[in-house]
Order: sequence, then structure tokens, then C-alpha cells
Amino acid sequence: MKYKINFLKENNKDILIKLVEVHQNAFKKFGFRSWNYKDILDLFNNGSYIFYYTSNNKILGFIIANFSLDFNEIITIAVDNIYQNRNVGKALLMYVVNYPTLSGNLYLEVAVNNYQALNFYRKFSFKTISERKNYYLICCGKNKGKRVDALVMKYVL
Ligand SMILES: CC(C)(COP(=O)(O)OP(=O)(O)OC[C@H]1O[C@@H](n2cnc3c(N)ncnc32)[C@H](O)[C@@H]1OP(=O)(O)O)[C@@H](O)C(=O)NCCC(=O)NCCS
Repeated sequence: MKYKINFLKENNKDILIKLVEVHQNAFKKFGFRSWNYKDILDLFNNGSYIFYYTSNNKILGFIIANFSLDFNEIITIAVDNIYQNRNVGKALLMYVVNYPTLSGNLYLEVAVNNYQALNFYRKFSFKTISERKNYYLICCGKNKGKRVDALVMKYVL
């Protein structure tokens, strides 16, 4: 699949709306609170890096990361359900891992029951370093009100 990884340089409402749709679509099975337009806009305004994957001018996925001198983290990564398992996530993750200004380790949090993402991160050598109890709140579906632990994973650059 011919693709491009794009850096969101300016506040572009159409793109941000599309990212919200991809995020909601990718995460709906978990029952966590859905991200809305303001969530992503706030991250953008607060200096998070947003990279999105396009193929034939269609946005198929994106990754949001924070880079700083002493701490780097992946805030989220999401690939449209229809396009999962086609190396879109891999291209996004590798883009961040190889980002020129990134130095030091890279951290992320992932729900303990998100086996797809856990396998994905393990495949790229992320290691679990700790656990955060009751980190995510399930806000819809049959498990509404329950909490899910998160694993903290680290990639050594
Ligand atoms: C996790 C996610 C980002 C992965 O993106 P993706 O585009 O589906 O994954 P890719 O096709 O790029 O997979 C890359 C590699 O990971 C492996 N992988 C992906 N999903 C896997 C799974 N369920 N089990 C085992 N390995 C898996 C693939 O085998 C692939 O390896 P390969 O390069 O040797 O073929 C995507 O599935 C997603 O958006 N999930 C929902 C949102 C989410 O959970 N985000 C992470 C929250 S922390």
C-alpha cells in the first residue's frame, strides 16, 4: 500500500475530525470514554506531536506522542478497524521511534486486556516495566463502571 506519514503542523479542523472518527472506531470495542474533538485539539495545542497515515488521501491511522528532553511517551495510536493488520500501525510506530529529535526512552500505557496492542508493542521490543492498577474506567457496555489495569511499557532507544 503506497502511503505517506504526515505531521500535523497547524490546527486543521477537517483533519482533527477525521482523527476523532478513527480513534472512536478503533477503540469502541473497549468501552472506554471516547475521545472527542476537544481532546485531540487540546493535545495539539499543548504541543503533542500528531502524525497521521494517508493512503490515496484517506486517513487510515494516527499516532500522538510527547517528546521532551527528559521524557518521551506515546499518548495513543489508532488504526481504522478496516485497515488494521496491514502494517499501518507499524509504519506509524516506526516513524516515531526513528524520529530525528527523539532521544532517551519511549514510554506508553496499555490496558492489560488489549492483547492486540500488547502483541503489537512486544513485536517492536517494548518491555513491560510496571503496572498501574485500575487505570482505565469502562464507561459503556456490560462492564460499565469497572476498571482495568494498565501496563507501562518502555522502548529503549
Ligand atoms: C494496535 C494497533 C495500533 C496495531 O496497528 P495495526 O496496523 O493493526 O498493526 P500492524 O498491521 O502494523 O502490525 C504490525 C505487526 O504487529 C503484529 N500484530 C498486530 N496485531 C497483532 C495481534 N493481534 N497479534 C499478534 N501480532 C500482531 C503484526 O503481526 C505485524 O507484524 P509483521 O510486521 O511481522 O506483519 C491497531 O490494531 C489499533 O488501532 N488497535 C486499536 C486501538 C489500540 O488498541 N491502540 C493501542 C492502545 S495503547
